[in-house]
Amino acid sequence: MAKYQAPKGVSEYFPPRSNDFEHVMRALMNPALAAGYEPIELPVFEDTELFTRGVGESTDVVSKEMYTFEDRGGRSITLRPEGTAGVMRAVIEHNLDRGQLPVKVFYKGPFFRAERPQAGRYRQFYQFGIEAIGVNDPYLDAEVIAIGYSGYKALGLTNFSLHITSLGDRESREKHRTSLVSFIDRLSLDDETRARAAKNPLRLFDDKRPEIQKLMTDAPLLLDFLNDASRKNFEEVQSALTSIGIPFEINARMVRGLDYYTGTTFEFVHHGLGAQSGIGGGGRYDGLMETLGGQNLSGVGFALGIDRILLALDVEKVSVSKNSYTDLYVIALGDEARKNSFALVQKLRSAGFVVEQSFGERGLKGAMKAADKSGARFSVVIGDTEISSGSVELKNMATGEAVSVTLSALATTLAEKSK
Ligand code: HAM
Repeated sequence: MAKYQAPKGVSEYFPPRSNDFEHVMRALMNPALAAGYEPIELPVFEDTELFTRGVGESTDVVSKEMYTFEDRGGRSITLRPEGTAGVMRAVIEHNLDRGQLPVKVFYKGPFFRAERPQAGRYRQFYQFGIEAIGVNDPYLDAEVIAIGYSGYKALGLTNFSLHITSLGDRESREKHRTSLVSFIDRLSLDDETRARAAKNPLRLFDDKRPEIQKLMTDAPLLLDFLNDASRKNFEEVQSALTSIGIPFEINARMVRGLDYYTGTTFEFVHHGLGAQSGIGGGGRYDGLMETLGGQNLSGVGFALGIDRILLALDVEKVSVSKNSYTDLYVIALGDEARKNSFALVQKLRSAGFVVEQSFGERGLKGAMKAADKSGARFSVVIGDTEISSGSVELKNMATGEAVSVTLSALATTLAEKSK
């Protein structure tokens, strides 16, 4: 056993799997770029209060799962458990909401939740997320959902569903809350559950315990309390999705794990992942900016779980194409050849080829093995003879076939053969 090991429950990616990780990130990013979203890079730690206020104290994320510590200046700092609160903080702090609206940004990176580790649930995990801030328009909700959906599709995932619901506007939520609270008051609950329900009664819908699920069977559903404006808004989101061929299921009992949501909420659920089936989720959060001290503007966004998407691709046996490939592997034998080929490799790389070279004095056999392992499409061996003759044998690694090429024509020949 290695002397040092990664902390419990973190996900790590190293070659070759890390190539798949990059590929997934890129595939998810493309639809966001195509829709005009721009990158935002934010700190992985923030003042703790940003999350307690922004994400909400009734959530597991805030009450049980935050990595919180005091920094050297005595400030309470938390490793970000999610990205939306940080984006909103940055938008307010840097006045991004005073320009063109909606502000459309995407982010990716590690997030931290002290959850009980299991397959698909990690303490450090990776998300790709987007946020569109400042405009309340059902078509924007649908655009956000479509961007996530397109990413999964581009990766080749098929065995997943989109669940959507609506939390309506404030009036609808308040009416429903009154009815739900009086329903919950009549249930026999332990003190802890009751305290949780007092902070956010919707939490009881996503309580995993079967006895609570049973008690909640007849609980009033928010969808039945939507007023006309909220219902119309939700219908518009649905017809926008239908118009671009995105299938969805309405799931009236779905409750997201964060408290800032209003209006449309959604989750992408994969059918092959067991308990940790959520591969992405999001929704509208119209009060968040004001809660965090900004103006009263709306927002909508999602975050997709990279780790779970990778697992889903495995389950669906979708092979993720290796995105780092090598055109040419150069093996130099002898001092003079090493000197010459080092410069040649540099030149070929500047010309746009992916070129690897052998290092260490390991002899021809060892170097050929390395060339093989690299997955390079071609290889050349450069020794004293090749330097003096000015030509090399360009070997096709798949077929074993070799052609003689002058060193000066290597780039053009490689280009021709790569067509
Ligand atoms: P979330 O549903 O908490 O939403 O997380 C989004 C996704 O991150 C989940 O669907 C899941 O795939 C992944 N994820 C969450 N926790 C873990 C974990 N412990 N291990 C592995 N993967 C995990 C949010 O974070 C919101 N900020 C999304 C959002 C953006 N809403 C509006 N804008």
